[in-house]
Amino acid sequence: MTSTSHDRLLIIDFGSQVTQLIARRLRESNVYCEIHPYQNVTDAFLADFAPKAVILSGGPDSVTREGSPRAPQSLFDMGVPILGICYGQQTMMEQLGGKVESGHGTAEFGRAFVTPNDHKLDLLDGWFANGKEQVWMSHGDHVSQIAPGFEVYGTSPNAPCAIIADASRHFYAVQFHPEVHHTPNGAKLYENFVKLAGFTGDWTMAGYKDQAIAAIREQVGDKQVICGLSGGVDSSVTAILLHEAIGEQLTCVFVDHGLLRLNEAAEVVKMFRDNYNIKLIHADESDLFLGELDGVSDPETKRKIIGKLFIDVFQKYANGIEGAEFLAQGTLYPDVIESVSFSGGPSVTIKSHHNVGGLPEKMGLKLVEPLRELFKDEVRALGLELGLPASFIGRHPFPGPGLAIRCPGEITREKLAILQQADAVYIDQIRKHGLYDEIWQAFAAILPMKTVGVMGDGRTYDYAVAIRAVTSVDGMTADTYPFTHEFMGETMTRIINEVKGVNRVFYDLTSKPPGTIELE
Ligand code: XMP
Repeated sequence: MTSTSHDRLLIIDFGSQVTQLIARRLRESNVYCEIHPYQNVTDAFLADFAPKAVILSGGPDSVTREGSPRAPQSLFDMGVPILGICYGQQTMMEQLGGKVESGHGTAEFGRAFVTPNDHKLDLLDGWFANGKEQVWMSHGDHVSQIAPGFEVYGTSPNAPCAIIADASRHFYAVQFHPEVHHTPNGAKLYENFVKLAGFTGDWTMAGYKDQAIAAIREQVGDKQVICGLSGGVDSSVTAILLHEAIGEQLTCVFVDHGLLRLNEAAEVVKMFRDNYNIKLIHADESDLFLGELDGVSDPETKRKIIGKLFIDVFQKYANGIEGAEFLAQGTLYPDVIESVSFSGGPSVTIKSHHNVGGLPEKMGLKLVEPLRELFKDEVRALGLELGLPASFIGRHPFPGPGLAIRCPGEITREKLAILQQADAVYIDQIRKHGLYDEIWQAFAAILPMKTVGVMGDGRTYDYAVAIRAVTSVDGMTADTYPFTHEFMGETMTRIINEVKGVNRVFYDLTSKPPGTIELE
C-alpha cells in the first residue's frame, strides 16, 4: 500500500543511528515521510517519489573519504526544500561547491551551545529566545567553506557553520542533530521546515484509517483473508481494520497454546466475537503444545517446539478456510525500514518480520500488511480510532511463547496454574496502585525450585515465584522499576495468601543488559 494521496517527505538515510527519530518528529507534525537508504535513491527513484521536501540524514562516514556516499546531484535541481543534518550537511556542501575538513581539534561530541548571527531565517522561528540554544553534536568533520549562495545563521565553539542556509532556494543545513532529545528545541526546527515546505499536516489517523480501508478493499477484491490473532495490539488492530474493510471475507485464527495468562483466551475471544462480530476460530490446542513440551527444560528447545507447532496448527486451520488467498500480518514500519550497511556495500539487509514465520511462502498466500507504514504509537492511535478500548491498547507486551519462557525448567500444568494466579494477583496490585502505565512490562515467573516455609504453625515446602517489572522504550534495553518497599511487601503477602502452592516471593532486580526481560 502506498500513500500517494499524501504530501510526501523523503528522508535519505546515510546510516545515522538516529534516522528513525527524524521520521518520528515529522510524523508528530502530521507529515507523511519515508526513509530510504542512499543507495536506493537514484534519479529515477527521486522522479517517481516526487517528494515535496527532502531531508539528508547524518551518517558515520566522512565526506572527505573518496567514494563516500552522496545524494543524487539531480536532487538539488528539483526545486524542493532540502534540510541536511550532520553528514547530510557536509555532503550538501561538498556537492554544491563548499568544502569539508576532517579533525584538527574541531570534533565535537555531545552537548554544545549555538548562538545566532544577525540574520533572520524562517527555519529558526521560535529559536534563540534566550540568546542561545542547546544542541547535540556528534561530528569529526566540519564545513570549512560554505557553498556559493549560502550564509551562516548560527555557530557553536567548534562548528563555525552550525546552521547555514541558502534561503532563496530553501536549502538548509545544520551540523547538529535536531531530532534527538538532547536538542530540546529541535522539534521546532522540523516543524518550521515542513511549514515552509508547504505541508498541510494531512497525515492523521482518521485519514489514514479511511485510506487504509480503501487500499485493503482494492488489494483483496472479493477474496478471503486469514489473520493470525495473538491478542496483542498489532494483530488486533490489523484484524479490526480488515474487518471494517472486508467484513465477512475475514477469518481470524486464535491459537491457544495453553501458555496464556489467566482468563486471557476467554477475554480475547469474547472481545472479538461480542464487540466486533468477527469470524473467529478459537483453536484450543493446549493439549498438543503442553504434550510436546512435557519434560523439556532447555529454553531454545522450548521456543523451537512452540514455533513449529504454531505454524503447523495455524496451517491446519487455515487450510480449512475455503478460497483463502491472503494472509494478514501486523508488520510495523520499523520492521521494514532497510538499514544502511556500510560494511556490506550496496547490498542492504531488509529486516522482515513474520508473525507466523514462513507461512505465506509455504501456503502460497499473498500478504496484506496494513500497518507497514506505522510506528508502534501510531498503531495504538489507529486502534483507538477503530474503537478498541484504551485499556486493551495499553497492555504490556506479551511474548509469543507465552508463559513457557516464564517457567524455567520443566513445564507442568500445576506450575502453569500457580504462575497464572500469581501473575494475576501481581498485575492486579500494580493496577490498584495506578502503576500499570508507568511500567513497560511486569509479570511473574515461577522458579524451578521449592523452598521451606512456615505458615499457620506448620511447615510448608512450596514453589518460589519471582516478580519482575521493567521500564523501557523499545524493549532493547530495560531498567528495573523502583517499587517502594511497602508495595513489594504488600504484593508478597497477597501472592502467598491468595495463591496456593507458593511460599516465597523474589523481586528480580536485573536490568537489561546484563539480563533479558524474559527469563528465557
Ligand atoms: P527479551 O527477553 O529478549 O525480550 O529481553 C524483549 C521483548 O521481546 C519480548 N519477547 C518476545 N516477543 N516473541 C515475541 O513476540 C518472542 O519469542 C519473544 N521473546 C521475547 C519480551 O516480552 C520483551 O517485551
